[in-house]
Amino acid sequence: MQQMWTEIDAYIDSHLIPEDPILIQTLKHTEERGYPDHLAVAPNQGMLLQMLIQMNSCKRVLELGTFAAYSTMWLARALPEDGYILTIEGRDVHAALAQENIDNAKLPQTIDLKCGRAADVLRALPDDTEAFDFIFIDADKQSYPEYLELSLNLSHSGSIIVLDNVVRAGDIIKAENHKPSIEGIRDMFKAMQNHPRILSCTALQTVGSKGHDGFAIAIVK
Ligand code: DHB
Ligand code: MG
Repeated sequence: MQQMWTEIDAYIDSHLIPEDPILIQTLKHTEERGYPDHLAVAPNQGMLLQMLIQMNSCKRVLELGTFAAYSTMWLARALPEDGYILTIEGRDVHAALAQENIDNAKLPQTIDLKCGRAADVLRALPDDTEAFDFIFIDADKQSYPEYLELSLNLSHSGSIIVLDNVVRAGDIIKAENHKPSIEGIRDMFKAMQNHPRILSCTALQTVGSKGHDGFAIAIVK
């Protein structure tokens, strides 16, 4: 099935996803540095993030898990020129690569990249940090429950929270799988269920060039 999913993603991309020099340059530079692209969002998923931001006229975006900043480019392109992104990456080498990609892109939006464990960086933000309109959680899956709570504390009524990779080819329902990343995702589902601060939420499975996975999405009450 994988080959067909990949071919269909290529078909979708060739029709609906405009070629963008900045995005192409980001992928090319990331590949040249020897990093596989499987950690990055697929282009048609990047476009979905862009559309959610546009739909809600978001201006302040928080991203947990920058990797090479490919998803960050999609988030930034969706924002007005005075838009702001705080993106946090836990691994030094990924953060260095991400900073190069961000510098090369020369986007008008302000992209603030911080390196460190996302939970530590978020807890160290000043008390008067303005809430974020859109939050993309894509860092270590083990910490998703913690990231969800911290994100809710940095959001306002109507903020959108998207969590990537919440299906992992079905591993979440394989009872024998006790990997911390999978347990983290399961705990995130439990936390989202009837959460007093969430207005509505769902999760969708996806198939495509990145295999079988899915994302969860919540609107803050
Ligand atoms: C992995 C992480 C991601 O955020 C992703 O989109 C795909 C894969 C991983 O850790 O393997
Ligand atoms: Mg991801």
